[in-house]
Amino acid sequence: MRRVPIIAAVLVIAGIAAGTALPKTAVAPVVAERQASMKAMASAAKTISEIFAGKVAYDAAAFKAATETIRRRSGSAMVDAFPADSLGEPSAAKADIGQSQEEFAALARHLESLAAALSDAADDAPEGITEAMRMKPGMAMGSSLLGKRAGGAADSDPSKIPAEHVFHLMLQNCTNCHAKFREKRQ
Ligand code: HEC
Repeated sequence: MRRVPIIAAVLVIAGIAAGTALPKTAVAPVVAERQASMKAMASAAKTISEIFAGKVAYDAAAFKAATETIRRRSGSAMVDAFPADSLGEPSAAKADIGQSQEEFAALARHLESLAAALSDAADDAPEGITEAMRMKPGMAMGSSLLGKRAGGAADSDPSKIPAEHVFHLMLQNCTNCHAKFREKRQ
């Protein structure tokens, strides 16, 4: 079966493989915590991608744990991790988050719903990745993965689309938020 090589590229975009580490000194605890939380999500996303790619054997519990790592850290928990007085230097969080609270929160909530759908998918697949979880040929790549608009796929119900596709939408969500609200430090 054909796997999805594009995942590797997307993980780079999401800041997982790239050298995006920031100096670990002189940031407030709330900043250090959210950066650690983002890193934990990146590591969980890597695990999920490796499972889909067949690099790591599927294990429903491990798959679910990774999705839950992301679910718990998104939604309102993520919004709360970016209080107004913590934005801007020396954090990479742009000050615009303060003026664009609604959009920022919508991205965080969308991530939560995508992670919840993946978590549910693990419950439905105790033995292995099912065909229903796989992205179908012709699905998605152009339109969803590389879609430009934040929240572009927010209207579709993630519980009704294959888990692998949901995962791609998730990575797209990470990238969308970073493009808009995270300072580039390369
Ligand atoms: C709603 C917006 C938003 C979403 C969604 C989001 N991020 Fe982030 N992310 C940020 C912001 C803002 C920063 C910069 C935080 C800082 O430096 O204070 C960041 C930083 C990071 C970092 C760098 C952490 C560090 O050590 O400095 C990584 C890695 C990361 N995000 C991964 C992810 C992954 C993976 C996802 C998706 C599963 C994701 N993010 C979803 C906004 C978001």
